[in-house]
Amino acid sequence: MITVGIETSCDETSVAVLEGEQDLRSLVVLTQDEHLRFGGVVPEIASRAHVRTILPTFEEAMKRASVTIHDADLLGVTCGPGLVGSLLVGISFARGLSMAHRKPLVGVNHLEAHIFSAILANPDVAPPFLALIVSGGHSLLVECRRLGSYRVLGRTRDDAVGEAFDKVAKLLGLPYPGGPSIEREARGGRPDFVKFPKPMLKGAREDDAYDMSYSGLKTAVVNYVKSHGEEFVARHRRDVCRSFEESAVEVLVEKSERAVGEKNIPTFLLVGGVARNELLREKMEAMAARNGVRLVIPPPELCTDNAAMIARTALFRYESGGPSDERLDALANAPLPEA
Ligand code: KG4
Ligand code: ZN
Repeated sequence: MITVGIETSCDETSVAVLEGEQDLRSLVVLTQDEHLRFGGVVPEIASRAHVRTILPTFEEAMKRASVTIHDADLLGVTCGPGLVGSLLVGISFARGLSMAHRKPLVGVNHLEAHIFSAILANPDVAPPFLALIVSGGHSLLVECRRLGSYRVLGRTRDDAVGEAFDKVAKLLGLPYPGGPSIEREARGGRPDFVKFPKPMLKGAREDDAYDMSYSGLKTAVVNYVKSHGEEFVARHRRDVCRSFEESAVEVLVEKSERAVGEKNIPTFLLVGGVARNELLREKMEAMAARNGVRLVIPPPELCTDNAAMIARTALFRYESGGPSDERLDALANAPLPEA
């Protein structure tokens, strides 16, 4: 069974060819650099760039996998959440392929695909598991007892954690995307140079114990720059970055540990772009060891947006529910399929 995955939800144009459940024959990810000078993704520019790159990306992925479209048994495409204009490029392209070559097509939820990135990399992972999805658009703590249906335990009330990295990087004059820039800059910096807040939202309501909030932490960095002056902050940028990273990561570890303690579920998945962060990986490893749970983190290239996870999820959805019908459409706020 050969599945072709297509991902265009944000600023990566990606196509992958997956054979069966785990043999990744090719994965091409093209990250748009058109946004660099704006310090963030500009939606209209992203859509236009996808139009230019989708066909060459597809052709390169097919070439690297040594297949043609005739060999494909299934097509999968991200239909949300994401930027509507970007999603529509991938969906239109996939629909065209599907109609011209009579191949079944499945629409994939991008958040479910991040979960499946861990399963693609570790085929023995099975429910029940907890998953922390941390990306530029989302921060979600999820419980899964059966593949395909998820219970959201907590989510961010405002900014996603990756978004906080991106905004703080921009504020400190570091290039987009902010996550890797801050991580690089923070190396060797002092984690306790600034005591930034770690918003835990503990106890305000009974059902918010797992919710997160990152806009306060971002504002704390803004205020710190205001009160200490740009020149001082530039001189201590390493320490400020490391201190910010410490707070951002600690909140995630604390929330995860609380869920692990309360849910008694032996497997924990850490996925999404921010899961590339070394400090987060280390602290989550320590948390998992303390609590005797298995921590599963995909390799870095499967953490950030990629079409391999889309192909793997399409296969699962196709096998459990068949192809999508003509109602397949872009959905900016598509929720995770809930239990
Ligand atoms: O999953 P992803 O590629 O896209 C979304 O679905 O949003 O995640 C992108 C996010 C960006 O905010 C980026 O700054 C962050 O992941 N990121 C990181 C690192 N690498 C990427 N954040 C912290 N540390 C990193 N090493
Ligand atoms: Zn993503």
